[in-house]
Amino acid sequence: MLEFYKTRRSIRKFQDKAVEQEKIEEILKSALTAPSSKGKRPWELIAVTDKEILGKLAEVRGASSGLIAGAALGIAVIADSETTDVWTEDASIIAVMMQLSAHSLGLGSCWVQIRERFTPGGKSADACVKDVLNIPEKYKVECIIAMGYPGEGKEPHKEEKLPYEKIHYNRF
Ligand SMILES: Cc1cc2nc3c(=O)[nH]c(=O)nc-3n(C[C@H](O)[C@H](O)[C@H](O)COP(=O)(O)O)c2cc1C
Repeated sequence: MLEFYKTRRSIRKFQDKAVEQEKIEEILKSALTAPSSKGKRPWELIAVTDKEILGKLAEVRGASSGLIAGAALGIAVIADSETTDVWTEDASIIAVMMQLSAHSLGLGSCWVQIRERFTPGGKSADACVKDVLNIPEKYKVECIIAMGYPGEGKEPHKEEKLPYEKIHYNRF
């Protein structure tokens, strides 16, 4: 497991190659097993492969979201905030599970933060994504996970450089 986690890195450059539908479905289907508070599953996933729509999403946060333009797939993770007060946790868990699934399938991915973020012009990134993806008002957008075949190589996290000082036993 550690070996697998060590080699996951955020990938921001992608090959110009589509992700096979079977892989997309595997990522989405396995995500549906995610744990959620009280089993409420407040999330919805919007898988975007349309290049024009990906281009629009890439503009939402300027430089921080530009990588979406080169991705073959972007999965918007949204949640019904009226269902639960811990929707951010639930949405984050399903998002990371998809990043790990992507990694296991030979794909690279990167989280693009939307919640509490703004466009370069100062508008809510959440509102812009909702507009682009036709998302009903009651949902909140946590993030977009950009995915694709990696177009860059990254060194794995070095085991000897992990921040072991952050681990405490029994008391802080
Ligand atoms: C909550 C969260 C928000 C992030 N937001 C962005 C983002 O908006 N744009 C981006 O390029 N990367 C974003 N990242 C990726 C981080 O920059 C990256 O995980 C971090 O630098 C560590 O690198 P690694 O994933 O390769 O280990 C985000 C990651 C997390 C967990």
